[in-house]
Amino acid sequence: MSKDKLIIFDTTLRDGEQSPGASMTAEEKVRIAKALEKMKVDVIEAGFPIASNGDFEAVKAVAEAVKDSTICGLARAKQIDIERAGEAIRPANSGRIHTFIATSPIHMEQKLRLSPDQVVEQAVAAVKMARQFTDDVEFSPEDAGRSEPDFLCRILEAVIDAGAGTINIPDTVGYNLPHQFGALIAELRERIPNADKAVFSVHCHNDLGLAVANSLSAVLNGARQVECTINGLGERAGNAALEEIVMAVRTRQDVFDCDTGLDTTQIVHCSRLVSGITGFAVQPNKAIVGANAFAHESGIHQDGVLKSRETYEIMRAQDVGWSTNKLVLGKHSGRNAFKTRMAELGIEFGSEEELNEVFARFKTLADKKHEIFDEDLQALVTETSSEHYNEIVKLVSLRVCCETGETPNARVTLNVEGEEKTAEAAGSGPVDASFKAIEQIVDSGVELQLYSVNNITSGTDSQGEVTVRLAKNGCIVNGQGADTDIVIASAKAYVNALNKMIADEKRTHPQRGVM
Ligand code: KIV
Ligand code: ZN
Repeated sequence: MSKDKLIIFDTTLRDGEQSPGASMTAEEKVRIAKALEKMKVDVIEAGFPIASNGDFEAVKAVAEAVKDSTICGLARAKQIDIERAGEAIRPANSGRIHTFIATSPIHMEQKLRLSPDQVVEQAVAAVKMARQFTDDVEFSPEDAGRSEPDFLCRILEAVIDAGAGTINIPDTVGYNLPHQFGALIAELRERIPNADKAVFSVHCHNDLGLAVANSLSAVLNGARQVECTINGLGERAGNAALEEIVMAVRTRQDVFDCDTGLDTTQIVHCSRLVSGITGFAVQPNKAIVGANAFAHESGIHQDGVLKSRETYEIMRAQDVGWSTNKLVLGKHSGRNAFKTRMAELGIEFGSEEELNEVFARFKTLADKKHEIFDEDLQALVTETSSEHYNEIVKLVSLRVCCETGETPNARVTLNVEGEEKTAEAAGSGPVDASFKAIEQIVDSGVELQLYSVNNITSGTDSQGEVTVRLAKNGCIVNGQGADTDIVIASAKAYVNALNKMIADEKRTHPQRGVM
């Protein structure tokens, strides 16, 4: 008997971006969206177009770039939001508007200050208006997890009649327990007379660590769309993690009467991409995508796995995209081999110029590091994409002096709008000294909010991948840099973040400079 399709709705670019500090540029959103498309995600919620011009442009850019997944824009149940979302998704091959209004007593009384009748009226009007832009309309009763089931039945019947094809039930504050949430989905499907005219979806937050469990319980009770994010990124404690939902359903096909159409071998790549761009590191013991998810430490486990893998493994590492760190390219590899391997990794180049630029960086890296792994190639792309920002500040050179018992010192030369400037500074360590020297030149007034280093592959010759998060006047940007020398990687990341900050300032205040 053929199984139902479980629709995967990824909201990394919308709810995920609502994690403080996880803001992404339009170009970064497009890169993530293309990776999600390659993984065969069904629906990509690309942003909240009314929230800002930047968000609008990002949704539009994703709608233009992605061809195979449906592109969704979020909108409150308000005319101005819906028109903006409709406009943003217009270039999409397949576009969806997701409109929402709160339905719990506390939200209706305290936040909206609307009566239940007014909420129903606004919801119905919003769905009808959204249908003028697209046939694919999703409705969410926000805080459904704390709403009265009777009221949910009333409003959902009305919005299905008005043309909503997907009904999404959010546990907005992550309050529900799995058995309750599953029962709620079953009750709604049973009691709403026109329930069969809509796909039931769920959107669970992780405040009690139950987002995945609640989502799976809903699937067992008939939900056929799950909203989730890569690495579980999202507001507060995050959303249900896509990789956990997809692999739970795939691994336990004995229990689920549905499956996703995802290419699970892309999971680790997507996880790394999102973590690199947002600066949100993945904890080593995180299910599926954590560095230790398939590592066996205990002797008994190792012995068992060597005799028969299934003794301690319920999934195969390669099925979720863990490569065995195999050597892929070296310094003698040509441009064609490089391009082919990149394509296999799902990385395409917009132009010959872009390919040449990344290839040149690859050659430089290959001179320093003889074994180049897939992870190194991915980091090269993360780095090179920063070139798209018409960089105003470029790192020319960096020299650091460190000696036991001495204060570390850094000498940095930057090219700022074509002019070379040099400064020296002391610091508590070589990275601190480098950042201080950079600031002596640019005097940007930014605040350093996050500094993190990850090694891309194992071994002391591995590249370090650094993320730097900077804030200024409410704007937060993440910069990345990779190098076999982590002090240079750090300086690159800092300069990358500065350039993003300058680009953002230019967009918001074209007449002002950041420095
Ligand atoms: O958590 C929530 O309720 C949301 C809605 C907009 C679906 O993110
Ligand atoms: Zn949410």
